[in-house]
Amino acid sequence: MTVPNLSVCKHPLVLDKIARLRDRKTVSADFRRLAGEIAIMLGCEALSGVKTKPELVRTPIDTCESVRLAQELTFVTILRAGLGMTDGLMKLEPNARLAHIGIYRNEDTLEPVRYYARFPQTLAGNFVLLADPMLATGGSAVEAVNILKSRDAKHMAFICIIASRAGAKRFHQAHPDVPVCAGALDETLNENGYIVPGLGDAGDRMFGTV
Ligand code: PRP
Ligand code: URA
Repeated sequence: MTVPNLSVCKHPLVLDKIARLRDRKTVSADFRRLAGEIAIMLGCEALSGVKTKPELVRTPIDTCESVRLAQELTFVTILRAGLGMTDGLMKLEPNARLAHIGIYRNEDTLEPVRYYARFPQTLAGNFVLLADPMLATGGSAVEAVNILKSRDAKHMAFICIIASRAGAKRFHQAHPDVPVCAGALDETLNENGYIVPGLGDAGDRMFGTV
């Protein structure tokens, strides 16, 4: 069954990079690099919803009816594991602003705990792209979008490398207006709230804290 407003990437390059990311033998340095490369490809897809405006550009030869972005971009990563997607996103559009939200899951309840938020003065009028490698129970991403909406973000998309079906459904129920672009959709969550088969703990694998 499909989850509304969820697109799952089918690009062979993304599939190959996710296979390597899932592999338990992949070391942290490669894990971070792959996460950044996947972020570029998912980000590119998710940003296809950005508003544009026509502009006449002068080339050295003639004028050319061109297309420019009509919105400022703000990229938001959820600490800690989202940091591994930051470099990729900033390569995609170096002029974007970058915001951070710190959220971790309470290990007993699996509910999100917010501990940090740093934003540009306003998100109004911006296209806000939220990134986190994992959408597991969905609690962290739902909370992050609650925070973004409380700061006047209206036009958003969320990218994640692996989504669970349960997490994607919970996210859609809470935020049906926010499209999700995932690299893969896994069917199961285990009793500890980990995605199965997933890739393990993204933050620990990224930063070598396993
Ligand atoms: C991971 C991941 C997400 C969250 C997803 O973070 O990066 O933020 O879990 O789980 P959820 O969908 O069930 O909320 P974690 O809590 O491990 O924190 P960390 O990145 O600081 O290690
Ligand atoms: N967070 C992770 O890093 N991995 C999971 O599978 C679930 C939550």
